Amino acid sequence: MTTHPLQPVALKSQAVNFRALPPLSLYIHIPWCVRKCPYCDFNSHESRGALPEQEYVAALIRDLEMALPQVWGRKVYTVFFGGGTPSLLSGESVAEILRNVRMLLPLDLGAEITLEANPGTVEAARFAAYRGAGVNRLSMGIQSFNDTHLQALGRIHSAAEAQHAITIAQQHFDNLNLDLMYALPGQTLDEAMQDVRTALTFKPQHLSCYHLTLEPNTLFYHNPPSLPDDDASSDMQQRIEEMLAASGYQHYETSAFAQPKRRAKHNLNYWKFGDYLGIGAGAHSKLSFPDRIIRQARYKQPQAYMQQVGKGAPIQTESEVGRDDLGFEFMMNALRLNEGFDSSLFGERTSLSLLSIQGELAEAEKRALLIRDHQRIAPTLMGQRFLNDLLEIFLKR
Ligand SMILES: C[S@@+](CC[C@H](N)C(=O)[O-])C[C@H]1O[C@@H](n2cnc3c(N)ncnc32)[C@H](O)[C@@H]1O
Ligand code: SF4
Repeated sequence: MTTHPLQPVALKSQAVNFRALPPLSLYIHIPWCVRKCPYCDFNSHESRGALPEQEYVAALIRDLEMALPQVWGRKVYTVFFGGGTPSLLSGESVAEILRNVRMLLPLDLGAEITLEANPGTVEAARFAAYRGAGVNRLSMGIQSFNDTHLQALGRIHSAAEAQHAITIAQQHFDNLNLDLMYALPGQTLDEAMQDVRTALTFKPQHLSCYHLTLEPNTLFYHNPPSLPDDDASSDMQQRIEEMLAASGYQHYETSAFAQPKRRAKHNLNYWKFGDYLGIGAGAHSKLSFPDRIIRQARYKQPQAYMQQVGKGAPIQTESEVGRDDLGFEFMMNALRLNEGFDSSLFGERTSLSLLSIQGELAEAEKRALLIRDHQRIAPTLMGQRFLNDLLEIFLKR
């Protein structure tokens, strides 16, 4: 960027210039779990003793109130209670949070409101209360229906409890996602297929099938179990994709499969580089303003977060997304979508012209990782398989 000597260096703030802001989502983080799973790098803490539930709910509401000036007048299209384990919250707490969300923000009438649940924390009355509070989509962390694998993953529930939890959930929710993981320690192809087959018997509207990854800062990373090799896990991936396609599920994102019209609206907003306000311990936000895009992270430790809310300063870090990073940041999300994106979306979300990444697009096309016409830009099958190679092209050095 060239700067005129008389112009302030704050030119970075003029990096973007939006005529309309992207759709806004609200993310609410609940940072506790009954037990920490050895593979999990989410901001989740073992809940020893009773949760400071009321104090935390009050902090969330205060946090939201303080964040209002940054999203003033903007409608919220989706709400997501993520964790951690949001299903540790009582029905009253979820109702209180949603009451305040509705009071403080214009919530779209058809808003998708999702809550993540762990099958080891399921009570029928609580699910009924979540539904009554306005939650209309439930996402359950199943991981596997095989007791040996569940134990190796340190899960707090058995396969039978997982199945029972799904049955209860379906009495209250007609929009259900199940999380499964594959390439588990010692897992065979048949076992991975059997997990998906069992999930399908419940006909969930949505399935997320994650390849287990060894994340830094986890027990598995420091003490790795024996995992299926790359050939075995890519066989699993391929067979899972085939089975789900044959059962009518659309594979629309790297790990996401949905029945027609049941794609996860909240996640789609992330992948389409929409905006999100994240409240709660460690929650991240991406917010656009007419002249800039910012990212924020709130204090991670639940206690520190609540104290900081008390001091009126829950945000630990805030930075502006530089103009040079926008192409990569947009692609990192949008190219996860197997159908790719409408070419006009790039300009709408970044305020940049596609010409600014013309060289990168041409290179990706030449390497058969991406296809494009005047309407759409999408990863090829090879681009989907080698997404990191594709994204690297957009990473400015
Ligand atoms: C926040 S958790 C979901 C809800 C709840 N905490 C539970 O586990 O039951 C989100 C999902 O991420 C997936 N996940 C977590 N760690 C992972 C890892 N290391 N590799 C792949 N998937 C992972 C799991 O499928 C998990 O259900
Ligand atoms: S996978 Fe879910 S239950 Fe396990 S530690 Fe992570 S957030 Fe908690």
